[in-house]
Amino acid sequence: MKKIRKAVLPVAGFGTRVLPATKTIPKEMLPIVDRPALQYVVDEARAAGIEHFVFVTGRNKGAIEDYFDRAYELEYSLRQKGKTEIYEALDADTPEAGTMSFVRQQSALGLGHAIWCARDVIGDDPFAILLPDVLVKAKKSCLAQMVDAYYQVGGNIIAVDQVPHERVSNYGVIAPKGRQDGKRLIEMSAMVEKPAIADAPSNLKITGRYILQPEIMDILKTQAAGAGGEIQLTDAMAALMAKQSFHAYEYEGEDYDCGSKYGYFEAVVAYAMDHPEIGEEARNLLLSRCQNIGK
Ligand code: UTP
Repeated sequence: MKKIRKAVLPVAGFGTRVLPATKTIPKEMLPIVDRPALQYVVDEARAAGIEHFVFVTGRNKGAIEDYFDRAYELEYSLRQKGKTEIYEALDADTPEAGTMSFVRQQSALGLGHAIWCARDVIGDDPFAILLPDVLVKAKKSCLAQMVDAYYQVGGNIIAVDQVPHERVSNYGVIAPKGRQDGKRLIEMSAMVEKPAIADAPSNLKITGRYILQPEIMDILKTQAAGAGGEIQLTDAMAALMAKQSFHAYEYEGEDYDCGSKYGYFEAVVAYAMDHPEIGEEARNLLLSRCQNIGK
């Protein structure tokens, strides 16, 4: 079985749900306390053994390339002033030269189209996709959990998480084939985008982490626009399911949709409460604010 070495991170969307912040700042660069959301996702992928990152970017996303570059003046100044700890932390986050590629999606035609833009860099290898506006806070990296599952069953793997049944219409949902209680790896028979509550085949929502076989690119090449007039990854995966095996993996961890105002707020609170520097203060602040609610 081929190793999962490459990951595609699509970052070309407009981020309209978090305007006006995203008018000039890519939503993937919004800080979760002191680190951009994207840094957490790159860390998650690294912990899963990813060696090469393919960013699918668009206009106004230059800050992302600059973020992963060296900042010579800043680094020099930190060293001169003896701010060694800060310098070393920055240095540790800087990727090794040649481990990141940036391809451009000239028009935001949808997630499926964004993934297809990475086809030449991906080539014939199975690869991971991480949607960088979704953070998964977990003891073991969510993608690492999926990679372990991949080495058991191969094929294609989609991360899923349970949602209350009344909220299924907001998400892509999978249809499980059969499920053994307590097992996180689930064989799938179908997936549906935003089903009506009555028609939803399960309450397992698709969460923004995928391991896919390269044949998905051939399907995306001719994939017509679907829901919302966009070329949808879900439609292409549904077509690939007719030919290849698909499993869902119910990961252990909490996900935050930082592409929405409330999800972003939730993420900031959750990460602040566990932050090594400000965690205790953040927890105390929240506690005192909660005690004062309604007074
Ligand atoms: P979203 O639909 O969450 O991102 O796509 P968006 O389009 O930026 O969101 P809103 O609705 O305008 O707020 C999921 C991921 O796919 C990327 C986005 O950047 C995001 O990371 N994407 C989406 C692309 O790269 N290209 C696209 O054409 C669409």
